[in-house]
Amino acid sequence: MSDANPRLHLMDHPLILHKISMLRKQETNPRDFRALLTEITVLIGYEATRDLELMDAPITTPMMPATGHFLAKNVCLVPILRAGLGMVDAMLTLLPASRVGHIGLYRDPKTTLPVEYYCKFPPDVAERVAIVLDPMLATGGSACTALSFLKQRGVKRIKLVNVIGAPFGVEAVSNAHPDVDIYLGALDEKLNDRFYILPGLGDAGDRLFGTL
Ligand code: PRP
Ligand code: URA
Repeated sequence: MSDANPRLHLMDHPLILHKISMLRKQETNPRDFRALLTEITVLIGYEATRDLELMDAPITTPMMPATGHFLAKNVCLVPILRAGLGMVDAMLTLLPASRVGHIGLYRDPKTTLPVEYYCKFPPDVAERVAIVLDPMLATGGSACTALSFLKQRGVKRIKLVNVIGAPFGVEAVSNAHPDVDIYLGALDEKLNDRFYILPGLGDAGDRLFGTL
């Protein structure tokens, strides 16, 4: 957790930093990019799920009766299309009973503002903990829009998981949605004049799907 921003959970685990460095390299091909993004998401996801609610229930081991601690099946994963799709399988490995809602947004290349093209949530999304997934947090426009969509549908508890973020985007999300915890793999230096993250990794969707 950062001293300056109590909602920012910045990762410092060597495994995460190593894998993010591999992800950034321009020679990393889409196949390796997908594999690395999955591994990184499992590791950040472990931290992002640390405070999920447990319910006690009786179990019987081969030795004796005992009390088991089980996760409530109340999570909705929300990838922001396209690049957030690359994080879904990893989170489903951790939380296989989750539902998955999708938010389709792209940044208009001229205005850099997010444009919505798809939105579909499970009917009981308001009762769930939403975990929003997107590798990149640049201006924060896409994340803020996604968080607002969820709040408009009555969702009370939301977490945001990003791999690489810029200070501008972190601040934008924290100002607009101070109730949302941000789990971030790496905090980069800044945005360039086209609002791409520096040093970043380029366009996450294009690198994930080989559409460069
Ligand atoms: C990327 C990324 C985020 C967004 C971040 O998506 O995956 O959704 O940009 O930028 P922001 O913080 O300034 O909003 P993009 O718009 O490139 O769409 P894509 O995933 O379909 O390529
Ligand atoms: N979207 C990306 O995919 N990369 C950036 O650096 C910024 C926005």
